[in-house]
Amino acid sequence: MTTPSPAALDAYWMPFTANRQFKKAPRLFTKASGMHFWTDDGRQVLDGVAGLWCVNAGHARPKIVQAIAEQAAELDYAPPFQMAHPKAFELAHKVAELAPAGMNKVFFTNSGSESVDTALKMALAYHRVRGEGQRTRLIGRERGYHGVNFGGISVGGMVANRKMFGTMLGGVDHIRHTHDPARNAFSVGQPAHGADLADDLERLIALHDASTIAAVIVEPVAGSTGVLIPPVGYLKKLRQICDQHGILLIFDEVITGFGRTGSPFGAQTFGVTPDLITCAKGLTNGCVPMGAVIAKQSIYDTFMQGPEHLIEFFHGYTYSAHPLACAAGLATIETYQEEGLLTRAAELEGYFAEALHSLKGLPNVIDIRNIGLVGGIELASRPGAPTQRAFDVFLDCYQSGVLIRTTGDTIALSPPLIIERQQIDQIVGTIATALKRVA
Ligand SMILES: Cc1ncc(COP(=O)(O)O)c(C=O)c1O
Repeated sequence: MTTPSPAALDAYWMPFTANRQFKKAPRLFTKASGMHFWTDDGRQVLDGVAGLWCVNAGHARPKIVQAIAEQAAELDYAPPFQMAHPKAFELAHKVAELAPAGMNKVFFTNSGSESVDTALKMALAYHRVRGEGQRTRLIGRERGYHGVNFGGISVGGMVANRKMFGTMLGGVDHIRHTHDPARNAFSVGQPAHGADLADDLERLIALHDASTIAAVIVEPVAGSTGVLIPPVGYLKKLRQICDQHGILLIFDEVITGFGRTGSPFGAQTFGVTPDLITCAKGLTNGCVPMGAVIAKQSIYDTFMQGPEHLIEFFHGYTYSAHPLACAAGLATIETYQEEGLLTRAAELEGYFAEALHSLKGLPNVIDIRNIGLVGGIELASRPGAPTQRAFDVFLDCYQSGVLIRTTGDTIALSPPLIIERQQIDQIVGTIATALKRVA
């Protein structure tokens, strides 16, 4: 396949991409299988990021491919409002089985961003239905990423994703982030210091009064901001404070869901059960867009009152529980379970951590963070040119046949959970070479 001409690339306005730079030197994938992509000029590239934190079982898995094809031929679409199809119920049951005990109601969306906005609306409506409609305030965290819709960017805390978009939702506040390199740099696994940062929620409760706060949303492991692992005890403390004040706790598990940290959900890895979980990505192995919100039974029950012929929650999408997505989701979970992938990150965590931390001491490496099969390597920014050093490392690795991801000046790794040890070595070895070359 030949590389397209600049004119052929013209119409597509690419998301989260430096469009002009990209179109001068495009990077195109045309095929994927297992742990690899292939470029349009036929080069094989090892996937160090599961596509975009989503292809947890590796690419083009036959069972999933077949399920999607068969579903498209059998039932291409079914309306999700006042109608349904059997696989929607089957998938909801499977997801509920994987979720922490008591979290057994599943609402389907089409993306992580939609899951976040759905969960925020559920939280507001939940309080209103139970007679505490004054609880309208939503609390996020600095550096948080919760997708790109208005709810998500309002509770999110990544400045570049917010500053262009006006005032966003009113009544939102943020607790402090947990990044503390002075005390925690090069921690292996969960950092020891920072549980006390959860107390920042008490500061906001003192400021706004708990009776005005509906929910707190955090990522158990913050990914997009550059891989921040929760300090030991931090999430438990957040849970305690929320419980004390009747505030719902939402875990945004769009990247931590489906095995990334060594358990089906981060909630299980960290031993903390939230009230709502948002997920997407690994739910269908990235094959068909789909997200979900998993709710505690008690939240669902709160909505189930009043005349039975009335709709209880005025929310949903044309493509909620789309048949193709449900078929993909069922085949994905079957693949995860057959191959033990939902706990494989726990088995590989030690090897992965050792490989990653071997990069300590290489040029410009100022921190390394890891949990399960998530890794972050933070680089010192070039003076006056933030993000460029990491991006140069990304390009170098890509040329050398390894796909990594960078955010700011942090390299983020999240390989498919089928990765083998020698492929971990290949990723880390390629990054090491790039770091020396790019320095
Ligand atoms: C924690 C978190 N929430 C939400 C999202 C948004 O998901 P989507 O891009 O599917 O809308 C992401 C995407 O990376 C994410 O990491």
